[in-house]
Amino acid sequence: MGAVSDHQAEAASEDKMLSESDPLLKLNDLSKIFDLGEIKVHALSKTDLEIATGDFVAIMGPSGSGKSTLMNIIGCLDVPTDGEYLFNGIKVKNMDEDELATIRSERVGFVFQQFNLLARTTALENVELPLIYSGKSDRREKALRALEIVGLSDRANHMPNQLSGGQQQRVAIARALVNEPDIILADEPTGALDTGSGNEIMGIFEKLNSKGKTVILITHEPYIAAHAKRVIHLRDGQIVNDEINHDRTVAIVNVEGIKHEHL
Ligand SMILES: Nc1ncnc2c1ncn2[C@@H]1O[C@H](COP(=O)(O)OP(=O)(O)O)[C@@H](O)[C@H]1O
Ligand SMILES: [Mg+2]
Repeated sequence: MGAVSDHQAEAASEDKMLSESDPLLKLNDLSKIFDLGEIKVHALSKTDLEIATGDFVAIMGPSGSGKSTLMNIIGCLDVPTDGEYLFNGIKVKNMDEDELATIRSERVGFVFQQFNLLARTTALENVELPLIYSGKSDRREKALRALEIVGLSDRANHMPNQLSGGQQQRVAIARALVNEPDIILADEPTGALDTGSGNEIMGIFEKLNSKGKTVILITHEPYIAAHAKRVIHLRDGQIVNDEINHDRTVAIVNVEGIKHEHL
């Protein structure tokens, strides 16, 4: 116990890791205003939010309510106009470009509605890309392992157009996982998929979450949000509801090619 504490104290001073009581993500009175000259759009208004390690959060709300803006700020793709954002206990506005780039490429894995895979590039090469950007070795091995996690080892050499929508999104999830991020951020990951494929994707997120990844996703669909541990509703740039989901849907993961020991 003593050794563990010493190690943690050392890690805390070296890596500025957060203490156990700190939330992984913390937004204090955060606002984002898009200044379009004549009008100012209050995409987020004075928002407070804490998300702990291991949480599984669904963000819902009508179109234009600020969901993507919130996600972009959480993923350090955009900065707030006012207020404070702490990632892992550290103020994001004090980070330099290198630190921000490390968060974007290694701490957070992004998944988008339209998959955003490179065409004419195999599934395996798509998954290897983040490793190339972050200068990692053993790329093939790591990419294959990530494809294995999403049950697509046998599609490694397929091009995106040879894969179904659900399979393409699984490749995109493998790409998001390959740098072993702490957090998965997904903006309407099932928005372009049929119900069955959407449920498969949620099954993968559930398994990743059960292995300790923090999952934050945006969705319009109540049946997708029903998988999360916590559901947040946005309206006009404000959190109007933030509730624990006491009645979670748990997907029966039966995705072809996924073996349970891989998840
Ligand atoms: N880059 C931008 N420039 C100007 N306005 C923006 C920009 N991005 C988003 N907005 C506006 O901010 C509000 C919130 O947008 P967004 O976060 O994309 O909502 P959602 O994802 O919930 O549909 C909307 O009114 C939108 O038009
Ligand atoms: Mg959006």
